[in-house]
Amino acid sequence: MSKKIIIGSDHGGFRLKNEIIKHIEKLGYEVSDLGCNSTESCDYPPIAKAVAKEVLETNCKGILVCGTGIGMSIAANRFDGIRASHCTDTFSARMTRMHNNSNILCLGERITGSGLALDIVDIWLKTEFEGGRHQKRIDMI
Ligand code: RB5
Repeated sequence: MSKKIIIGSDHGGFRLKNEIIKHIEKLGYEVSDLGCNSTESCDYPPIAKAVAKEVLETNCKGILVCGTGIGMSIAANRFDGIRASHCTDTFSARMTRMHNNSNILCLGERITGSGLALDIVDIWLKTEFEGGRHQKRIDMI
């Protein structure tokens, strides 16, 4: 996985997305923001689709933010090869990298405050997949 992150949000996740972009750029990540570009109401599925496709094509990780994180995770997980994880805590963020080799992190701006959200991002980005028996299980999906 490279130091490039593909990111997207709908209007419900727009503010948190911008905080995440600032945060991860400071950590040295290159960010590709596929929208949306304001808090004006928009639909989350096309953004989830664009990010999922880019993650699959580039083998980079992605981050999707909406109001709850749930719509984005449902939409992104429709794509074969995407393992999108909706996380509201740091333990899940760590475990979903170690055991599920999560390639998209989904967050909810209306659920998770930005302090915790940025911790979740940090842990999700730095935790490595364990492989082994977990790869075998992923292959069964
Ligand atoms: C938008 O109001 C909201 O439905 C969306 O951001 C997301 O939470 C959907 O799951």
